[in-house]
Order: sequence, then C-alpha cells, then structure tokens
Amino acid sequence: MNNNGFEPKVVVFCCNWCSYAGADLAGTSRLKIKPQFRTIRTMCSGRIEPSFIVHAFTQGADGVMIAGCHPGDCHYNAGNYKARRRIMLLKNMLPQLGIEPGRLKLEWISASEATKFQSTVNGFIDDITKMGPLSLKKVRSN
Ligand code: FES
Repeated sequence: MNNNGFEPKVVVFCCNWCSYAGADLAGTSRLKIKPQFRTIRTMCSGRIEPSFIVHAFTQGADGVMIAGCHPGDCHYNAGNYKARRRIMLLKNMLPQLGIEPGRLKLEWISASEATKFQSTVNGFIDDITKMGPLSLKKVRSN
C-alpha cells in the first residue's frame, strides 16, 4: 500500500507447465509475495487472447502480467512465440485504449524459478502501485 492507500489489482496469467509450477513452488517454498495479485492458469501462454487482457483491464485490473515457458521450452512448441507477438502488438495498441503500456508485462518463468516469480510479481506490483489506478476505473465510476 502506498501513501494514498492505493492497492493495485494485478492479474497474472500463468501457463500450466512452467510458470504456474514456478508460482506453486514459490508458494510451497513460502516465499514472500505481495498479496495484490490473482493468478489465472491457462494451458499455454499462447492461449491468452488479447481480448482476455483487455477484459481484465476493463473489469478492474490495474496491471496484467503474462508468464510463460522460456523460448524453446513451450510444451506446445511455439505458443510462447505467439504470445510474444501478441503482447508486442497489444502494447502498441494500449495507448489508443487509454492504458499505459507499462501496465502489461510478459515474462518467461520456468517451473524451477520460484524466486524469479517472486521478484517479478513483487516488482510489477511496485511498478503498478507507482503508476496509480488505471484511469479506465475513473471513467467507469463516473
Ligand atoms: Fe508454457 Fe506454452 S506451455 S508457454
């Protein structure tokens, strides 16, 4: 929580085979992670359609992170390459929707990288906290 009492809502999409296992390992290892995020598990980062991300923003998320297997490790061969292309394109479009591109993050996290999951999520929550609430919320609440 920052001085203004703002607590961000962050959605973290994790692929089942690597990143979700990394998140699970972070939990079972009792690593300290800030509580302002919710995880959504998908089978592959390539399954995450841009509309899912936009939907998360319009439904109240202040930040969205996608975590997938490292390049070359996707269990569906090239799903993470598809995700990378989609995220790059969506980041270019976000300003047209009134969303700062920094509110969307893509990261590769393997099943053994619990500390990377911890540090990436904590760092992203800090970044979003500094950015403040997504302005779409202000528009929605009026
Ligand atoms: Fe992890 Fe495709 S299975 S990114």
